[in-house]
Order: sequence, then structure tokens, then C-alpha cells
Amino acid sequence: MYRDNPLKKISWHDFQKLTPQQKGVYFLREQRPYHVLTAQQFDRPMLERICDLTTKIRQIGKTKGGIRFLQDLLSEKRAMLYFVQPSTRTFLSFYAACQIVGIEPAEVRDTTTSSEVKGESPEDTVRTISSYFDMIIMRHPVGGFAERIAWLLSNTNRPVPVINAGSGMDQHPTQALLDIYTLQRSFEDKGGIEGKAIAFVGDLARGRTVRSLAMLLLLYTGVKQYFVAPESLQIQDDIVTLLKEAGTEFEVCGDFKRVIPEVDAIYMTRIQDEWDRSQESRLVDTSKFHFTAQHLTLLKPDAILLHPLPRRKEIAVEVDSDPRAMYWRQVRNGMWVRAALMLAIFDRGGEIDRYHEDLVS
Ligand code: NCD
Repeated sequence: MYRDNPLKKISWHDFQKLTPQQKGVYFLREQRPYHVLTAQQFDRPMLERICDLTTKIRQIGKTKGGIRFLQDLLSEKRAMLYFVQPSTRTFLSFYAACQIVGIEPAEVRDTTTSSEVKGESPEDTVRTISSYFDMIIMRHPVGGFAERIAWLLSNTNRPVPVINAGSGMDQHPTQALLDIYTLQRSFEDKGGIEGKAIAFVGDLARGRTVRSLAMLLLLYTGVKQYFVAPESLQIQDDIVTLLKEAGTEFEVCGDFKRVIPEVDAIYMTRIQDEWDRSQESRLVDTSKFHFTAQHLTLLKPDAILLHPLPRRKEIAVEVDSDPRAMYWRQVRNGMWVRAALMLAIFDRGGEIDRYHEDLVS
């Protein structure tokens, strides 16, 4: 199916020297995602295609016949969900997405029950997994680990696609895809994502979802990005450099209240204190970066509120019933986007197009 295997043609040493942008082409096959490892590997047509497939399979999935059709598409495949960092939504949405497209899912969530306790390297464990499964979906605390595995497997006689379901503090590309899908749908009748102002709020230093989404937003013209956080949790310099290079408009600031009425979307995030060295984030006053029920009056009538979840106090529960609160819809969208992504990886999009055309004609 895939004659071309670009990751086989480059040494690990040379590969590591590339920028995230340069690495992107190595994760593709025939202009489609094969490995899904970074936000930077996507271009605008790929995003449009994934969003289009997502909308189509959501519609197809409304009837029993449609559900059966979807379940048959990848019923010959098995996927390993190798999640060795806590996860509820990403794990379950991938699990449910596998079920939608007929992939049989299996899981490893705890290395203490695997041969890693016998001293096996994580690389060997994952190579073993690739012997039994057709795809590896992985969440790992080490940034870049999924890339390493993708390279390693590409250089064996059983390369399988690797999806990064969250790596360290670095990247969470599939969350960014579902965020884009949610933004696109929310702004469907309002000119799309183009030209909108979007504020990221919270722990931007260590929030991988923000880093990935900020990169995808560069593919939309005229978007202004605000990074609103206490100084010690502000967006990292590498992202700032990439934003500057892209020539996009952005603002780094600490005044949340001022920003609320200026933006079309607010992306709240939790303090990522699992990365604290000595509970240092407890010393930071984050209360000014919470969205309360009072803030609803400041928010534009058409604006939306996003959160990758889990939440703590960043968004008051009373806000959930406001029509602008879009985070529960994000959760649901995640399942469909991930199902669409798997269909794109295994090149089954054409069948979706044909079925959908019959459905609407
Ligand atoms: C995020 C993550 O794991 O990075 N969660 C998610 O996948 N929806 C955000 C977080 O944990 O704060």
C-alpha cells in the first residue's frame, strides 16, 4: 500500500537536526498523514480534508446502515493504545473512534505490568507491540518519544503508523485537530477561522495543547493570537520565534479581563503542575486567569469558550450552560475527528465521499 517510506531514508542523527517544519514531510505518504506526530506536519488542505471527513462520518453515523458501513471500513485492523501517562478523554475517544471505524483496540496503560519492569527498553516494548498491531497510538511523558518510535519502526520490516496522543510538554496534535474542527464549525456562518482573535489562557509554558494549536492557527490568515498568563507560565520562546517567523499578529500579556471582550475564542487551560520541580506553581496567583460567571457579560455574544479538559477552577461550572461554552462539544468532536484521521491514514476517505454523496443525493 505504501511504497514510499521517507523515514527509512534518513538517519536518526540527521533527522534530529531538522526543525519541526522540516520533519513534517517525513510523516506523510502521498500527501496524506501516515504518522501523526506534530502539528507542523499539517498543511491547510490536509486540515480541510480531515474536517470534511469528520463532518461526513458524523452524518453517516446517524443511521444503523451508516454505522455498519463505517464499522466495516477498517475491520481488518488492530490498534494498540499505549498510554503510559494519565488520560481519560484522549484514551476513550481514540478507543471509541477505533470502534466507529471497526478497528479492534487493545491497551497498555501501566508499564508496571509490562516487561519494562524486567528491564526491557521502552523502544523494545513498542517494537514488540508493532508485531501484533497495525497502528500504535501513544501517550508518553517524554517529548519526542513518539517520533523516535516512528523512526525506529520505519526502519524495521514492519513499519506501522504511530499517532502521538500527547508527548511530554511538547505536542498534542490530535487535540489541536479537534480544536480546529470545533473552531471551524463554531465560525461556519461567521466567515470561518480566518481573521478571528483567539486567546490562550493559563499554563502556556507547559501546556502541549496550546503549543500545537498555536501552530495550526498559523495556517489561517489574519488570525490574532493572545497569550494570557502569569509571567512564569507564559508561552515559551520557541513558539514566540515561530510566530514571529510566520509574521502572524500576536500579543503576550497578563491582563485577562482586558482581553475577554476583544476576542472571538478563549482557550482556557489548567495549571500543569505535574511538571513542577518543587511545587513552584503553587506560589503563583492564578486566580486572575479563571473564567467566572461574571466574565460572561464581557464576552462577545458570538465568541466561544474552549478547554481541552480536564478543568479545575479555570472555568466556573455555572458557565457550562451558556451557549458559548463549547468544551463539552469539543469532547464529542474529538471522537469523530480521530475516527476521520484513522480513515485518512489508511486511505479510506474515498469510500466516505462516495457513501456520503449517495446519502445526500
Ligand atoms: C490535555 C493534555 O493531556 O495535554 N488533556 C487532553 O488531552 N484533553 C490537557 C491537560 O491535561 O491539561
